Amino acid sequence: MNSPTLPARPGIIAMPMVPKTASPVPSLTSIHSVVDRGPYGDRRYRGNCGGYLIRDLLKYFKPRSVLDPMTGSGTCRDVCRELSIPVTSFDLKSGDDAGNSDCYESLGKYDFIWLHPPYWRMIRYGDDPRCLSQAPTLEAFLDDFRKVIVNCRNVLSPRGRLTILIGGYCDRGRQVPLPVLTTILAMEEGLWPACTEIIRFQHGNTSSRKSYQSSFIPGLHDTCTVFRAT
Ligand SMILES: C[S@@+](CC[C@H](N)C(=O)[O-])C[C@H]1O[C@@H](n2cnc3c(N)ncnc32)[C@H](O)[C@@H]1O
Repeated sequence: MNSPTLPARPGIIAMPMVPKTASPVPSLTSIHSVVDRGPYGDRRYRGNCGGYLIRDLLKYFKPRSVLDPMTGSGTCRDVCRELSIPVTSFDLKSGDDAGNSDCYESLGKYDFIWLHPPYWRMIRYGDDPRCLSQAPTLEAFLDDFRKVIVNCRNVLSPRGRLTILIGGYCDRGRQVPLPVLTTILAMEEGLWPACTEIIRFQHGNTSSRKSYQSSFIPGLHDTCTVFRAT
């Protein structure tokens, strides 16, 4: 029997039912779709994300300390302050290279690390050659990103979680599956997914408001993966 054809309803996406669980954040599932970004960070900072996914994750994992080594406009830092969770945050823009192990020397251990790196060169964050968005090739980006992941892994507490938000995109005609490559890198470095990956719908994307002459399937999400040490 043929399936009935559903009428097209642009802009309306039906969500699956959420099972009842003992989760402290019952609405946190593998799909995160919140239109508002909340009073966190700065929406004008290119490539930033809203704060509600971070807030949900912090309420779920209840960390005693948080590290955000690519802080950008400070979305994660602002959420931590609201929740009164001690947070350390830095960025290359303030001179700290997350790929350099020296930057972590005086730090303690962290229960939760929020890592929101450049999606390679989708957005250039400056001229500093240490910036991940300046990597000339995908291989160079992955080498630099591996160093950041290793540094973060080394400052995870025993119950620590390293959470990485990243999205794939089409780079000069070639799809770059950054979430997949990130998972491979992290697992090669002794990390393991701690739960389902979370698909975050990108509401308010600059590219969503553009029109294009070419035919392609628009990407409207990025992927958040929570890792624990194996
Ligand atoms: C996607 S943005 C992060 C946005 C951030 N979540 C916010 O709330 O605005 C990526 C950030 O990584 C930073 N970055 C790139 N390479 C870096 C490096 N080697 N060390 C530290 N920060 C770096 C960039 O300066 C940029 O601010």
